[in-house]
Amino acid sequence: DDPNADPFAVAAQAADDIARHTGVDHHDIALTLGSGWGKAADLLGETVATIPATEVTGFSRPALEGHVGTIRSILTPAGRRVLVIGARTHYYESHGVRRVVHSVRTAAATGARIMVLTNGAGGIRRTWHPGQPVLISDHINLTAASPLEGATFIDLTDLYSARLREIARSVDPTLDEGVYCQFRGPHYETPAEVRMAERIGGDIVGMSTALEAIAARQAGMEILGFSLITNLAAGIQTTPLSHDEVLEAGRDAEPVISSLLARVVEKL
Ligand code: 6GU
Repeated sequence: DDPNADPFAVAAQAADDIARHTGVDHHDIALTLGSGWGKAADLLGETVATIPATEVTGFSRPALEGHVGTIRSILTPAGRRVLVIGARTHYYESHGVRRVVHSVRTAAATGARIMVLTNGAGGIRRTWHPGQPVLISDHINLTAASPLEGATFIDLTDLYSARLREIARSVDPTLDEGVYCQFRGPHYETPAEVRMAERIGGDIVGMSTALEAIAARQAGMEILGFSLITNLAAGIQTTPLSHDEVLEAGRDAEPVISSLLARVVEKL
């Protein structure tokens, strides 16, 4: 939180902490678990080490039920090292963007070249249903924030890698994809805001991921994004939204998204 600290040096320190606690000094792939995805990494392979996020520089305890609070090192059957991050800081927690993207920068500092970002989100498309996983094809960042500081102009074409989405679809050809709109939250959108999101090209509404994807691109990583549609957005679904509903959809979808994620990661 020190404004004078170099965020990349803090991330390097965090990567050292992870290496020390796990005995693994290099990861190939990093995976952030969003709402509803808490157990989705359990089929990826053998868990080599689990550490509380509070043992790692710059991480804090999760603010929310449904968010895991641990960092795990997994070895897949194909021999890939996966860093599983179950501790996400959301922009709405008001700790600033540096804290939000610290886990991504830490993942990059462990050597990971692929960043898999998952979240629980609201669906705008009427054909979607709660419990359905969808690929993120692009995003609209409605937070008015950026993880980049100063005159750092980076290209965001193909931010959510077409190559990686193709791999995901080779595992499940029925996967739909859509544009993710990151709102600040923590309130859900009004029906008017959901109509706006739809008219500007959005398909999914959520409170994470876009800022992290920008930081991952800055770090040179390839990005794969998944949203678990936990509910339809306000005004599309006629019943009020609740965090409990979001958690419940995650629990119900667990077997499907766990198996999907394991099969996709094995092919990355
Ligand atoms: Cl409807 N909106 C946002 N911003 N985040 C969500 C959601 C909706 N449903 C789950 N997460």
